[in-house]
Amino acid sequence: MADQILVPASAIRSVRYRALLPQLQALLLGEQDPVAAMANCSAALHQMFRWHWTGFYRVAGDQLVLGPFQGPVACNRIPYGKGVCGTAWAQDRTLVVPDVEAFPGHIACSAASRSEIVVPLHGRSGKVAAVLDVDSSLPDDFGPEDEHGLATLCQLIESLLP
Ligand code: SME
Repeated sequence: MADQILVPASAIRSVRYRALLPQLQALLLGEQDPVAAMANCSAALHQMFRWHWTGFYRVAGDQLVLGPFQGPVACNRIPYGKGVCGTAWAQDRTLVVPDVEAFPGHIACSAASRSEIVVPLHGRSGKVAAVLDVDSSLPDDFGPEDEHGLATLCQLIESLLP
């Protein structure tokens, strides 16, 4: 198994998402454990994009509980409907937040976060079972390309979730 994600010289995001997909597919091939899959997905995203914080929260009852991530320490739990993550879960849709300070109820795990994207993952039940949260230290760092690229990567994990 390769221990490094091969990062294209081009910084163009679509190029990097295209390069990452087959590498992550290979990394997750045959893996049935969702935590292992989320751990390698967050590490691969971190190696490819070097965002400030990249990780997962898992649905547990009426809260999100911190899952595998890369970056500084973060809040352990987020209630349903709270913060960007809890809102993406409650609304069952991807949220792109260009300026976290302008998002009512944003939970500041790190003062360095300026913009954020949260993608819900649906498990076999069809319900939201986890969210992928990515924080950038740059303002307005996420757009449709990230929505599409991250959702495509998350599909590799969704079938492993309850
Ligand atoms: N900012 C998130 C909390 C999680 S940390 O960013 C890792 C939110 O508002 O839900």
